[in-house]
Parts: sequence; C-alpha cells; structure tokens
Amino acid sequence: MPMLLDSEIDLELIQSPLNYTGGKFKLLPQILPLFPANIDIFVDLFCGGANVGVNVKSNKTILNDTNDNLTLLFSMFKNLGDDFLPLVDEIIEKYQLSQSSKYGYDYYNCDSNTGLAPYNKDKFLKLRDDFNNSKDIGYYHYAMLYTLILYSFNNQIRFNSNGHFNLPVGKRDYNEKMKQKLQKFIDRLKGKDYKFSNLDFRDFDISTLNSNSFVYADPPYLITCATYNEQGGWNEADEHDLLDFLNDLHKNNIKFALSNVLRSKGKENSILIDWTQRNSDKYKVINLNYSYNNSNYQTKNKNEITEEVLIINY
Ligand SMILES: C[S@@+](CC[C@H](N)C(=O)[O-])C[C@H]1O[C@@H](n2cnc3c(N)ncnc32)[C@H](O)[C@@H]1O
Repeated sequence: MPMLLDSEIDLELIQSPLNYTGGKFKLLPQILPLFPANIDIFVDLFCGGANVGVNVKSNKTILNDTNDNLTLLFSMFKNLGDDFLPLVDEIIEKYQLSQSSKYGYDYYNCDSNTGLAPYNKDKFLKLRDDFNNSKDIGYYHYAMLYTLILYSFNNQIRFNSNGHFNLPVGKRDYNEKMKQKLQKFIDRLKGKDYKFSNLDFRDFDISTLNSNSFVYADPPYLITCATYNEQGGWNEADEHDLLDFLNDLHKNNIKFALSNVLRSKGKENSILIDWTQRNSDKYKVINLNYSYNNSNYQTKNKNEITEEVLIINY
C-alpha cells in the first residue's frame, strides 16, 4: 500500500497535555483554515504547549521555543513513547500522590469542591524539591516534571529565575481525561517527523527553509504579555526584532502567519499597527472573532475587548 503523506490525512484536533498560558487550542478552528495547503516544513517558532504544531498538516514540523524544559519534555514524549506513562505511574506511587480516579475522594478525606490539595501538598512539595535538586536530566527527570504539572495549580508549568519549578499544588490529580490527552499527544509526536529546537527566534536559521515552508509565530503579546516564566518577558525591542525577522521571511519568499492582538482592554500595540499599515500591500490582517473573556463579544465594553488577529503574507 502506498504511504500516505501527512497532508493527505485528516488530522483529529488534539489538545496539548500542558495547560499552557496563551495556548491556541480554542482558536484552531479559526486559524487552521487560514494556513496554506501543502506545507513541506512547518515551523512553530514559539511553540509553547504545541497546540498548533501538532495539529498542522505538513511533511515535517519543527517545534521551537526558548523554554528548553518544554522542548526536552516533548522530545522525551516522542522518544519514550508508550514507556513514558508507566514512569508517571511509578512516580505517583513513589510519592504517594492521590489517585482519585481509582480510590475516590473520600479515601483521601477530601471532597471534589475543596479538592485534593490538602492531601497532596506535602507530597507534591517533596517531589518538587527532588525535581529542582535533581542533577540527572534523563527520562526520569522529565517524567517528574510532567507529574509535577499534573498535580500543580491548574496543570501549568512555570519556573523562577533560578530555573526552579515554582507552582504550588493544585486541587485535582491525574484523571482519565488527562491520561487520554497525554496518550494522544504522544501518539501524534511518534507518528511523524517532528524536530525540537530551543533557539531564540533571532537565531533560527531560515536558510534551511524554502517556498513550501511555513512559519507560524505566536510570541508573547507585547500588550497582554502573561508570565511564562520569571526569567524575562517580551519588550519593544523583541517586538521590533520579530517584525524584522518576518520581513526577512517575506523577502525570502517564505510564508508566515503571526498571531497577536492589536488592541486589548484599552491598550494598543502601535508598533504592530504601524508595521501592518506600512506593509499593507504585502501583509493581510485577519480579525479573529475571539475574546479572552469568553463572554459575549457584542455586548462588551470597548475597554474589555481583545482584538485577536492573524497577520499573513500570502
Ligand atoms: C503565546 S506562547 C505560545 C503558545 C502556543 N502557541 C500554544 O498554543 O500552546 C509564547 C511562547 O514563546 C516563547 N518565547 C518567548 N520568547 C521567545 C524567544 N525570544 N524565542 C523563542 N521563543 C520564545 C515562550 O517560552 C512561550 O512558550
């Protein structure tokens, strides 16, 4: 039977097993139809939780992010495949973290309202200490990291300026839904040609790309910038450098799409607005119907609205 190229198969949309701040899963139905067809190399330049990277059809995908904890965790998922989940189970057993899907909440003297934090807190902190002090950064280290994420506040990932994981314990634990999410994500990573890199976008070598490549950029947003880690945010110099980088892609005949917000809650990104206006003959701004507040867009006061856009050069 001839092998089907990824571009010929319908991909089921899957969600990242990391609850990533600024994650684009909810926007995929709006963004993906705007992407070019027949992508050879797809670059998710600021991949974060990789919600976009794993859902784009391409022959090859590069997941890039400066946060090497993310990209290394993803490469462990891919390399270990089905052997990753048993490691997580082993760590849950070792630290005696709750397994409410097996034993229920009563077993831990907790109820689903207040959650499992009172039971898990000390065990979680011990795991967090062991992870932060661990010198060995092999598979087990990343299985510890993923277990921390599973039991942390809102299943998020955050490091302080010393590179230490610093989220507190969360209310929930590892349930069937999370397990399925992780399994699907691992299967997706195993199933095709993914490469991982952790370069600052300025160091990404575009000479390896061509006119069938497509670069998606979802940087931290200048005017809404959430804290991904406490090691540095995103400033005006980064914004200018990124726009220069995108201009270079365009000059080299490489397609790109940039996610961003032009205006949000009374603030506006004048650097980006000026750039789109100066380049209106080359770049198109597409308004996406999305408000981070999730409530009715029409009835919102202007100061509460976030104008999410996709800016493309094709
Ligand atoms: C908005 S998030 C991406 C979310 C992602 N699209 C998703 O759906 O999960 C932005 C990411 O940019 C990364 N980042 C910040 N500065 C960067 C830089 N200079 N070069 C590359 N990545 C950077 C952050 O670590 C963060 O993961």
